[in-house]
Amino acid sequence: MKEIKIETTLYIYQDLDALPTDIIPLMQKAFKARNRAYAPYSNFTVGAALLLDNGEIITGNNQENASYPSGLCAERTAIYYAGSQYPDAKIIRMAISAGSKNNPTTKPIPPCGACRQAIAEYEIKQETPIEIYFMGETGKVARSNSLANLLPLVFDKTVL
Ligand code: THU
Repeated sequence: MKEIKIETTLYIYQDLDALPTDIIPLMQKAFKARNRAYAPYSNFTVGAALLLDNGEIITGNNQENASYPSGLCAERTAIYYAGSQYPDAKIIRMAISAGSKNNPTTKPIPPCGACRQAIAEYEIKQETPIEIYFMGETGKVARSNSLANLLPLVFDKTVL
């Protein structure tokens, strides 16, 4: 029996203002997208903003449904739109902000497992890392230099 340890690296910024100056506007676009989320069932709102290598910025937010599983997370709403509109563009980075109407979110909230899997697909397809910044409504912001850091044991096309 052999033990395998997996390490990952995140970088933590004290707050929005501590981010690099070119990242702040992208996160603010994620805030705006979050404010447009349709989340009447969970009251949990998420916004995502993607910067593409063609200069386009794509935003998305969570869209819920009375049939709960039919809803979709913000990250996948945004990345599927990007994939459908700009299939040849590379995603440089993604900014995510999550908030709750029930209680304030003040710590970094990472993308869910299903969204990590979806983002992984595009990172692998484009063969360059996608940088990910994520936060609550306020407070610290986490940066991952690649989706791979958030999903070390990825299920990908090589196993098919
Ligand atoms: N949600 C996202 O939009 N992104 C995530 O990564 C986690 C969860 C949404 C889905 C649902 O509308 C609400 O947040 C509560 O789970």
